[in-house]
Amino acid sequence: MDAFLVTGPSRLSGTVRAAGAKNAALPAMAAALLTDEPLVLEDAPDLADVKTMRTLLAGMGVSPRGSGATGLVLDASRVTSTEAPYDLVRTMRASILVLGPLLARFGEARVSLPGGCAIGVRPVDLHIMAMEALGARVAVEKGYIHAYVSRVGSRHGRLSGARIAFPTVTVTGTENVLLAAALAEGRTTIENAAREPEVADLARLLAAMGASVQGAGTSTITIEGIERLHGTRGVPHAILPDRIETGTYLAAGAITGGDVTVTNARPADLGSFLGALTAAGVDVSRGDGWVRAAAPEPLRATDVETAPHPGFPTDLQAQFLAMMTQARGTSRIVETIFENRFLHAGELVRLGADVRVEGRMATVHGPSRLQGAPVTASDLRASAALVLAGLAAEGPTRVRRIYHLDRGYAAMDHKLRSLGAAVERIPG
Ligand code: UD1
Repeated sequence: MDAFLVTGPSRLSGTVRAAGAKNAALPAMAAALLTDEPLVLEDAPDLADVKTMRTLLAGMGVSPRGSGATGLVLDASRVTSTEAPYDLVRTMRASILVLGPLLARFGEARVSLPGGCAIGVRPVDLHIMAMEALGARVAVEKGYIHAYVSRVGSRHGRLSGARIAFPTVTVTGTENVLLAAALAEGRTTIENAAREPEVADLARLLAAMGASVQGAGTSTITIEGIERLHGTRGVPHAILPDRIETGTYLAAGAITGGDVTVTNARPADLGSFLGALTAAGVDVSRGDGWVRAAAPEPLRATDVETAPHPGFPTDLQAQFLAMMTQARGTSRIVETIFENRFLHAGELVRLGADVRVEGRMATVHGPSRLQGAPVTASDLRASAALVLAGLAAEGPTRVRRIYHLDRGYAAMDHKLRSLGAAVERIPG
């Protein structure tokens, strides 16, 4: 198991390029299951989660070829299995994204229940509710979701359009419905839909495959199902840039009092995060495809509360909390999406931060003089927060279990080094 050895303090400056978004690549890859023609995806990031999705699709008979800028080609013309096994699903919850497309095209799917994860229970009841609303029969047996559409004679059945009102905003839940409804019979309306840019990116891909989708990016989405979707047909789908990776590098610059520019960025997707940076005293400038954050020292204490898009993203909460350890005053960070997403707080305290967690709120008093120490990463974004704190801390910080980081950040050690950080990947 690799670790990162971060030797601080350093002041980051320079430019990095954001990769394609993990959370847009995964549903786009699942969309390949909807058609017997090849799908070509450009800029799918080189990440453990993308590899897991490749393996999952390969197990179903899809043959993934190529990667990165030259394009990832997915051909689902010969699907031999409609099962997502436990061994893969337990490593990546987003595997649930195959449920909708498998049901829609083949009338059946067996997907392992994902189980718990460090940041909370994270049930999949809303995915199941939505597939039932579209006409699927769903049984949960022996740890698997078994869903099917009743047969019509010798043909497998087809999902039927429906009105689906989500009681909670769910990103992959909304995406699963989009994927399923694209091949369903009739119109589907999703109410209280997730407005994340990754949802709109999936709708853009489905439209390029021949689907008719209105309203993606707003809280009401309408899809008119059609019988057959086609592939990307000579116009590869470019995955949108990763806003969470972008935000993480801006926060890395800010926590070190540095000046970082991210290219291949879409600042419009990061409105509330950039607003919070500005409130913290960071000088944010932006243009077409880039965003820059130049930090003062010390930063100003700033309160944030996570919320579904366009609110402050839960996936940047840990990094912002780490930043606030270097801000003058008291910041209150409220997490409203996941019930247990402050595991990084205890580790930050080990580095010398003053953080107290009560229920859904963390209170940070700063600025603290951080000192390097061994710390253990508990989940993807918490790992990033610990690396950021290590950049600001004096002396070596060993961040263990960075396999979490590898799920969501491509070449983070290289990118941070290019900004002037001392970061090494080491065994253990
Ligand atoms: C997605 C993102 C993840 C991000 C999260 C919230 C992907 C691959 N992952 O995860 O990076 O942190 O959105 O922005 O895009 N819920 C239920 N029942 C369900 C589904 C969700 O109760 O069936 C709850 C969850 O426990 C959570 C909330 O709804 O409290 C939002 O979760 P959701 O948006 O579904 O997260 P994911 O789509 O899994």
